[in-house]
Amino acid sequence: MRRLLVCGGAGFIGSNFVRLRLLDQGDEVVVLDKLTYAGRRENLHDLEDDARLSFVHGAIEDPSAVGAAIEGCDAVVNFAAETHVDRSISAPDAFVTTNGQGTYVLLEAARGRGLRYLQVSTDEVYGSIAEGSFTEASPLQPSSPYSATKTGADLLVASYFHTYGLEALICRGSNNYGPYQYPEKLIPLMILNALHGDPLPVYGDGLNVRNWLYVEDFARGIGHVLEHGHPGEAYNVGGPDECPNIEVVRRILELTGRDESLIEYVPDRPGHDRRYSLGSEKVRALGFSAQVRFPEGLERTVAWYRENPWWWEPIRTGAYREYYERQYGRALKG
Ligand code: NAD
Ligand code: TYD
Repeated sequence: MRRLLVCGGAGFIGSNFVRLRLLDQGDEVVVLDKLTYAGRRENLHDLEDDARLSFVHGAIEDPSAVGAAIEGCDAVVNFAAETHVDRSISAPDAFVTTNGQGTYVLLEAARGRGLRYLQVSTDEVYGSIAEGSFTEASPLQPSSPYSATKTGADLLVASYFHTYGLEALICRGSNNYGPYQYPEKLIPLMILNALHGDPLPVYGDGLNVRNWLYVEDFARGIGHVLEHGHPGEAYNVGGPDECPNIEVVRRILELTGRDESLIEYVPDRPGHDRRYSLGSEKVRALGFSAQVRFPEGLERTVAWYRENPWWWEPIRTGAYREYYERQYGRALKG
């Protein structure tokens, strides 16, 4: 049993990770989270009464908030980030502050106390690949302000290992999906629009390919790397299946009982990466592999959104509507 500082633990992947660590591993967890639009206490609703969980409302770029939260912790896992590519194109400044400066402040705090540090990163640091898969030795060629700031953070983490001997690890996941994902991302957006009879906005020709990873698999993978990974190393954690966006959308239409008339092709995202694909041999050699295949995970995800309107209703009636109108140039019907 250990005491973990989980930064960004009120977000999508962070909250799934916190649940796993408390319920399966018996860890104590301190969540440090700024509660941006993407961070919600509701994501931890079932754990609020667990005495092993404490919550600190603060920003990772604020050294005093970090100093207070890190007290008594044995390790830091950093999920906190601005994460949406489209938002990074229209307003990159928060990405530089959180993903860049925030990571630096956490690294300094971990270094000062000699703590193990795991940075949660993304396949997007490698850029797009037409064929084959990226390994951890592939060049870093990010294309969006989101992926560029995540890449900068990875390089800073690596420098703290090389320069100061910080026990730092990096875990690069492919596209996650599952319960508690904010509906600006492809899968939850399409599920909620389909359930409400709103159009499904597909960028470009719909043939961009993503490597889908069920969130509980990524959470387990991160825990595995935290425990068994070698400091100074990066580990890819890819999903078992790749799928073009249009096929993801068609599967969601099937699972929600809607037809293809809801599909609406919209202008492409600027600089849109065509395909992501991760080779995960290195983490497999460490003893971890993702278990949940895409059809099974997608079915579970659609069922979760269908059964939990209490979670998404406040989002769909709040500031999200304005975001949606700005991004897609049309109002939500449902
Ligand atoms: P998310 O947007 O759902 O959650 C981000 C969380 O970080 C929120 O709780 C938010 O309030 C918090 N946060 C943001 N800025 C903060 C700050 N300055 N200080 C403290 N907290 C702050 O993101 P997610 O999808 O759960 O992603 C988590 C991590 O995993 C990110 O680092 C992301 O780059 C990485 N990742 C995501 C995916 C994916 O498909 N979603 C895939 C691979 C890697
Ligand atoms: P997204 O969930 O934003 O993740 P990322 O860009 O980080 O991979 O998008 C996944 C894919 O879906 C990506 O190719 C862009 C596409 N997409 C759409 O076609 N329509 C949408 O409304 C959104 C949000 C994404």
